[in-house]
Amino acid sequence: SITTAAADQESMDRMEVVETLCGINLPGHLHTKESLQFAQDFEFRDNDVVIVTYPKSGTTWMQEILTLIYSKGDSMPAENIPNWARAPWLEQHYFKDLVRNGSGPRLITTHLQYRFLAKALGRSKAKVIYITRNPKDVAVSFYHFHKMANFLPDPGSFNDLLKKFLDGTVSFGSWFDHVKGWHNQKNAVNIFYITYEEMKMDLRGSIERLCNFLHFPLLPAVVDSIHKHCTFTNMKDNKMANYTLIPNEIMDHQKGKFMRKGEVGDWKRHFTVEQSIIFDNIYEDEMRGTSLQFTW
Ligand code: A3P
Repeated sequence: SITTAAADQESMDRMEVVETLCGINLPGHLHTKESLQFAQDFEFRDNDVVIVTYPKSGTTWMQEILTLIYSKGDSMPAENIPNWARAPWLEQHYFKDLVRNGSGPRLITTHLQYRFLAKALGRSKAKVIYITRNPKDVAVSFYHFHKMANFLPDPGSFNDLLKKFLDGTVSFGSWFDHVKGWHNQKNAVNIFYITYEEMKMDLRGSIERLCNFLHFPLLPAVVDSIHKHCTFTNMKDNKMANYTLIPNEIMDHQKGKFMRKGEVGDWKRHFTVEQSIIFDNIYEDEMRGTSLQFTW
């Protein structure tokens, strides 16, 4: 069923499996060789809306916002259908069963790097929304997520996870490759860039900018209600978005919460001065020559 799609028997049987895509490790309980191929061959439609993120960058948040934009503020779908069924992940094995065949805009999510989707997206005018988040906060969020997600390897200490994050050997691959691959693609893809921090700073304005990009104007009162629904405080209690529907064998809810803090700058409570300097040096090396500048 839709509710258990991300926690069905096929997923459970593959909990210990690691799938790989060109050297990138992906949790085998959701990814198979076939599902990864299906994603790369997918025929996007011009009215598809694709949310693209490196994990822990605000994926679930954007899924909620877009659900409410397209329902014109009606909270029915957001409160009754799990996020992974409203905006299924292109590369996950249940996608082919969940993707809608109707003619309306389809919300599709992906964590894949650009190189794997360049061809498929290049054939369409599908609208792509790319969220970037301060990688220091991503690393912290990812560390806590590793502790509760039984389909990810044991992270060890924060320093252990940070090293793997910086050398790109964590599950889902290098943050730098992800961000560099998807940026500066306006000529190739119909893409809108936003950051987690912009959404935190001005959620209402971010919703309006999204509506403009989507050519989907909404009345100010509707934007207000979406804004209210999508704050961290409200979203953390929505079981269709907070992953509490996922059984403990897959996500151990005693070990942490998916909706953990939802803050900007939590890295300052986790990084030592030395870790921060190492991070900054690697960041500078990796991003040199990209012209990418973010204000976190
Ligand atoms: P933290 O672990 O820092 O709290 P993703 O959905 O890409 O996996 O990202 C998860 C991160 O987004 C978590 O970060 C989660 O708390 C945060 N998040 C989810 N909904 C949010 C919201 N409405 N406002 C702010 N942060 C949100």
